[in-house]
Amino acid sequence: MKKRIAVFVSGTGSNFKAILEKTEAGDINAEIVLVVSSNPTAGALSIAENSQIKTHVINFKDKSKINSEYVIVSDLLTVLNIDYIVLAGYIKILPAFFVKKYLGRMINIHPSLIPKFSGVGYYGHKVHESVLAARENESGCTVHFVDEGVDTGEIIMQAIVPVFGDDTPDTLAARVLIEEHKILPLALKKLCAD
Ligand code: GRF
Repeated sequence: MKKRIAVFVSGTGSNFKAILEKTEAGDINAEIVLVVSSNPTAGALSIAENSQIKTHVINFKDKSKINSEYVIVSDLLTVLNIDYIVLAGYIKILPAFFVKKYLGRMINIHPSLIPKFSGVGYYGHKVHESVLAARENESGCTVHFVDEGVDTGEIIMQAIVPVFGDDTPDTLAARVLIEEHKILPLALKKLCAD
């Protein structure tokens, strides 16, 4: 039986696209049945719609209702019989009840070599700016299980890239992203084969 996957996104969705291509090609024993977005204009939503994948946008406008928004998502995941959640460029911190429910069944991609440049405040370009400021010789990306901490869950897979003297956050981010697109599908494949 194919594993049923929900992908959580906030932006362009290139990591989502990377796993979608592999699932559609039958390379991963999984089917993406839902895309959840924190952002109503995320590019990932149009990719999902083009592939006839159900989408759901979380409403973050009313801060007092965020928990109940996640209850709605949680119920939707139960109804859709979701086996695994992939956080693919999802920038929001999930509430504790939600993380608990999917412990061991939710993975995240982070654009650094965890434990380096990870945790609260390290997201998006801030990660790559910090790597350059620290004059690191190498960086990379990590797929890990999501636990109650920020970027603290068990590591599943990492890829390393060199850092060059003339790198900017953009050039480094682009080099890391190429590797993200390789290890996220590989990690999901591993998970769904178990
Ligand atoms: C990736 O670098 C991811 O690691 C980070 O945000 C970026 C998302 O890119 N958290 P995309 O939306 O998958 O294109």
